[in-house]
Amino acid sequence: VTDEIERIIRAGMTETPDFPSEGILFRDLSGLFADADGLRAVSAALVDGVDAETVVGVEARGFVFGTAAAVATGKGMLAVRKAGKLPGEVLAESYDLEYGVATIEVHPDTLAPGTRVVIVDDVLATGGTLAATIRLMRRAGWVVAGVAVVIELEALGGRSALPADVEVRSLLRL
Ligand code: PRP
Repeated sequence: VTDEIERIIRAGMTETPDFPSEGILFRDLSGLFADADGLRAVSAALVDGVDAETVVGVEARGFVFGTAAAVATGKGMLAVRKAGKLPGEVLAESYDLEYGVATIEVHPDTLAPGTRVVIVDDVLATGGTLAATIRLMRRAGWVVAGVAVVIELEALGGRSALPADVEVRSLLRL
């Protein structure tokens, strides 16, 4: 990762103490979303060189980098939804979040069996979201070629919550 990418990410990040609950330092990249050149550069850096045909983004902030990364590199985008948004029969996985509990869902017939996917998100914190997404992808019959996040919060140990055989790329470690 270049110094320039790090600089762009830091410039687009805000840190808010005690949000959404006491003791949580909330990192938000809305400023980076709004930076046209920065959004393109960071999104491309997430998935450049990864052997996958589809980018996976988890609602909601994962949709921004996931879609931008997909468009920047000529891939499709698979939207993993929070519970209750998708009609019909879905696969679901639940997980503990840094704050609260969540369930994510996907239609197993959205991609062909064996499709190689790369999962993208803004932040790797406890790893609950990405671990659940990896389980969901594998249950659906897709191959996880890697995981990529803009920011990895190392103190929360998220990397060790993910399967050891999945390659994790983080552009900025805090
Ligand atoms: C945030 C963030 C990651 C996740 C990281 O999403 O966008 O997806 O938490 O935390 P973890 O590694 O501990 O799972 P959030 O669930 O707040 O949803 P949002 O994208 O809708 O804001």
